[in-house]
Amino acid sequence: MQFVQNIAEMKNIVQQWHKEGLDIGFVPTMGALHAGHVSLMERAKENERRVVSVFVNPRQFGANEDFSRYPRTLETDCTLCEKQGIDVVFAPNAENLYPFAEGVKIVAPKSMANVLEGAARPGHFDGVLDVLARLFHIVQPHRAYFGRKDAQQLLIVRQMVAEWFWDIEIVGCPIVRDFKGLALSSRNAYLSKKGYEQALQIARATKALEDAIAKGSRDAHSLLAMARAILAPLQIDYLMAVDYALNEVEILQNNASLIVMAVIVEGVRLLDNVWVECNS
Ligand code: PAF
Repeated sequence: MQFVQNIAEMKNIVQQWHKEGLDIGFVPTMGALHAGHVSLMERAKENERRVVSVFVNPRQFGANEDFSRYPRTLETDCTLCEKQGIDVVFAPNAENLYPFAEGVKIVAPKSMANVLEGAARPGHFDGVLDVLARLFHIVQPHRAYFGRKDAQQLLIVRQMVAEWFWDIEIVGCPIVRDFKGLALSSRNAYLSKKGYEQALQIARATKALEDAIAKGSRDAHSLLAMARAILAPLQIDYLMAVDYALNEVEILQNNASLIVMAVIVEGVRLLDNVWVECNS
């Protein structure tokens, strides 16, 4: 496995792979890798070469957010990637990735970016698109892999790639849960033992939603009421049924809608969601 920090070096490697006609799978991350990331790396085995980027992107953190305390575990991340047979870990530094303090701006569509996570985190998705546009241009992947847990991110990235005619397939991968059902997230590490136990209500709510949806229930009002009752002891930031453009819906449709939630436990925002018969 190669560890690359230099952008020109990464581009040279990629150019060579393109010349050889090899497909490139890309897993962008902010490090603190866990089994959720591993599942993306595994899915990316459908490519001949795999790149994982590790970059804690300052532009997607708000002023009061956890940029400085976000877990940084580069050494163990690299060991994990090596074990997974990753070809390159790309870990650029911010000065090189953002050479201009005020450069060209990428702005996510407001209708998708100012709702849900974006309502609480203004500018967050602009920051995500900003870094991904750069990383996509450097790594030039055929496919890029994202967890469905960050549903809004996945849908906005898909929109950017489609809208700008980039030949990158954005692959959404199933949520990975721990043995008690909590969706894996680097932020789970902030929870105390008690907080973790409380957070399991989220797992119970998503399980109940999945079961009801599997039995054919598609009425958003009753599904949300059921989930709200299970989540009641916790602070719910949002709990909504939406389509892939993030418009609220009353009736869920297969391959077109999902239920999204953000719940706050011990000051930690925990996301979860349930996609209705999702094939992509
Ligand atoms: O999901 C994440 O970890 C980040 O938002 C991403 C996609 C790596 C961009 O910094």
